[in-house]
Amino acid sequence: MATMESLIGLVNRIQRACTVLGDHGGEGGSLWEALPSVAVVGGQSSGKSSVLESIVGRDFLPRGSGIVTRRPLVLQLHKTEGGSEYAEFLHTPRRKYSDFAAVRKEIADETDRITGKSKQISNVPIHLSIYSPHVVNLTLIDLPGLTKVAVEGQPESIVRDIEDMVRSYVEKPNCIILAISPANQDIATSDAIKLAREVDPSGERTFGVVTKLDLMDKGTNALDVLEGRSYRLQHPWVGIVNRSQADINKNVDMLAARRKEQEYFANSPDYGHLAHKMGSEYLAKLLSKHLESVIRQRIPSIIALINKTIDELEAELDRLGRPIGADGGAQLYTILEMCRAFDRIFKEHLDGGRPGGDR
Ligand code: GDP
Ligand code: NA
Ligand code: MG
Repeated sequence: MATMESLIGLVNRIQRACTVLGDHGGEGGSLWEALPSVAVVGGQSSGKSSVLESIVGRDFLPRGSGIVTRRPLVLQLHKTEGGSEYAEFLHTPRRKYSDFAAVRKEIADETDRITGKSKQISNVPIHLSIYSPHVVNLTLIDLPGLTKVAVEGQPESIVRDIEDMVRSYVEKPNCIILAISPANQDIATSDAIKLAREVDPSGERTFGVVTKLDLMDKGTNALDVLEGRSYRLQHPWVGIVNRSQADINKNVDMLAARRKEQEYFANSPDYGHLAHKMGSEYLAKLLSKHLESVIRQRIPSIIALINKTIDELEAELDRLGRPIGADGGAQLYTILEMCRAFDRIFKEHLDGGRPGGDR
C-alpha cells in the first residue's frame, strides 16, 4: 500500500496530467474538479503571494504593492526524493528552471503576454510545477487580490471581475480556501472572510490565516482572532509573519525568514503559548494533513472518475495507436498505470504541439 504522501503526489500528478490534456475542470464530473486544491484568497497586498512563497520555501513570485497577481497561478508542488530543485511551466514544457529569479520573471512576462502591460486581469491560468525534496505535495492557486476600487487605467468592472474570478475557484466544493487577512486591518471587514463565509458558511473548508502580525499597533494583538473568538472556523487559525518589503529589498532569504518567523512567535509575550501552531511551516503541514484526509474520504469517487478517465484514455490511446497494458490489478496500480499512460500522452501532446486548452 502506498503511503498517503505518495497518494497525494499521485493526485498531484493526475491533476497535472488533466491540465495538460485540456481538462481544466470546466464542466461537472471532470477529474480535476474531483481533486482537492487550495486557493489563496484575500485583499490586495494582504500577503497572499508571500504566504505561498513561505509554504514553498522559495522566493519566486512577483510581489509588491498594488495588483501584481493578475492571472490565476496554479502551482503544483511535487515532493522529490532528493536532487536539485527545479520548476517547469506548462507553457514552456522543454525548459527546466533552476533559477527561481527567472521563474519570477517568467510569471511576470507571461502575465503581460496575455494582459498587456496594463493592469488588466485575465482568467487564463498560468501553470507552474515545482519539484523539490523540501516541499509537501500540494496544489496551490494564487489569485488576484480582491479590491474595492479600480485604479487608474483599469476598467470600473475590475472590482467585480476579480471577485467573480476568485468566486469561480472558491465556490467549488473541493476547493480548500486559504483566507488571508492582514492583522493590521479589522478581521470583521476582511474581504477573504466575507467571501469564504459566503461560499463555505460552515467553515469546514476554510483555513483562516492572519498575516502581518509584526505590523500591528503596539499594545494590540490578534489573540481574539487566532484563538477563534472573533470568527469561528472549524480549523484553527494560523498566524504568519512574512518578509516585509524592506526584507525583500535586502534579499533576506526564505530560510532566514522562516527562522525569523519562528523566533518571532517563540519570543512573543502574546503568542508564545501558540508558537508551535503558528508560522508558514506549520501551515504547510496543516494543509497537507487536511488534504490527505479529504483525499482519503474521496478515494472511492476519485477512483470511479479515474476509471472513467482511463476508458477515455484508452480510447485516446487507441486513436494514437498506443494501447496500454492494464491488467486490472490493484486499484492503486491502476492509478499508477494511468499516471504513466497520462505521462506518455502528455509527451505525445508536447511533441505534437500545444494541448487543446483555453488558448
Ligand atoms: P498580495 O498582494 O496579497 O499577494 O501580497 P504580497 O505577498 O505581494 O505582499 C504585499 C506586501 O506586504 C509586500 O511588500 C510584503 O513584503 C508585505 N508583507 C506581506 N506579509 C507581510 C508580513 O507578514 N509582515 C510584513 N511586515 N510585511 C508583509
Ligand atoms: Na500585491
Ligand atoms: Mg499577489
